[in-house]
Amino acid sequence: MTIKVYSFGGGQMVEAMLRAALKKGVVTANETGIVDIAAPRVKYLQEQYGFAAQQEPDWDHVATADIVILGVRPQDNWAQIMKGLVEHHYQKDVISIIAGVSLAQLTSKDDQFAVTRIIPNTLTDVALGYSGVVKNNNANQEVVEAFLKSFGKIDYLDESLLDVFTGYGVAGPNYIYNFLIIFTNAGVLAGLPRQQANKLAIENLKAAAAFVEQSGKHPAELLDINNSAGGVGITAQHELDKSSFAAGIENAVLAAVKRTKELGKRNAGDQK
Ligand SMILES: NC(=O)c1ccc[n+]([C@@H]2O[C@H](COP(=O)([O-])OP(=O)(O)OC[C@H]3O[C@@H](n4cnc5c(N)ncnc54)[C@H](OP(=O)(O)O)[C@@H]3O)[C@@H](O)[C@H]2O)c1
Repeated sequence: MTIKVYSFGGGQMVEAMLRAALKKGVVTANETGIVDIAAPRVKYLQEQYGFAAQQEPDWDHVATADIVILGVRPQDNWAQIMKGLVEHHYQKDVISIIAGVSLAQLTSKDDQFAVTRIIPNTLTDVALGYSGVVKNNNANQEVVEAFLKSFGKIDYLDESLLDVFTGYGVAGPNYIYNFLIIFTNAGVLAGLPRQQANKLAIENLKAAAAFVEQSGKHPAELLDINNSAGGVGITAQHELDKSSFAAGIENAVLAAVKRTKELGKRNAGDQK
């Protein structure tokens, strides 16, 4: 089954989601509609993928969609888009990827909208990251899940945790990319050729994650095994314990969560 999708906003995140869905055969290019106010984006989305992209909404196309995506930024006029959907009696599923904008802000109590709020992970091309998902009671779980699973895994959450999920889980790859760079640089500093250091860093990261998952052991237990008395591991551990390694990551996550909340507050919520 293919799913007909229409997106308001054709930016980076929407492109990444639809590219993955297209690759999985969950959507087809010509049945996927996109409106974006930026002419170069429209041209690019048409030429690169064959999506039915325009600069003005195609309401006939919207009417045939199983899912409408709200793919704009918090500060964009998403309230106007919701108003358009009400005026055109759109009644199927709406998926919002707008960070910091709540289900209550998106709908009024009179609306019968089936709305799912998602915070997609940027690892869509490998379809491995978790999207944080909150849905209201009207959402068609089967159709929505089929679409979401084409670009990642699903983690249902309480809406109160979605901002935390954004700063932690969605910004998650950023922390890992940083770790990979720093770990590779450390190998180079110690004398390894960069390519080799990078290869070892990636493999250690993948293998350590797999080992934690497969062994079911707490990472501290695995550290105990690696850190023998007076050995190499415990010597490195001592330096890590003295450094701001832990606080640096913790503070970065707290700052990212705080920023998500700030953006949510500064959004166009009062434009309804
Ligand atoms: N990028 C990520 O990694 C990521 C991850 C998770 C969630 N998100 C969320 O996803 C949303 C989109 O982010 P993004 O990074 O994809 O942003 P983006 O690349 O800036 O995409 C937004 C696009 O929507 C267009 N637009 C604005 N208002 C519009 C309207 N009324 N109708 C049609 N198109 C409109 C913008 O055009 P102009 O540029 O001309 O204004 C822009 O091309 C945000 O809420 C963000 O928080 C992003």
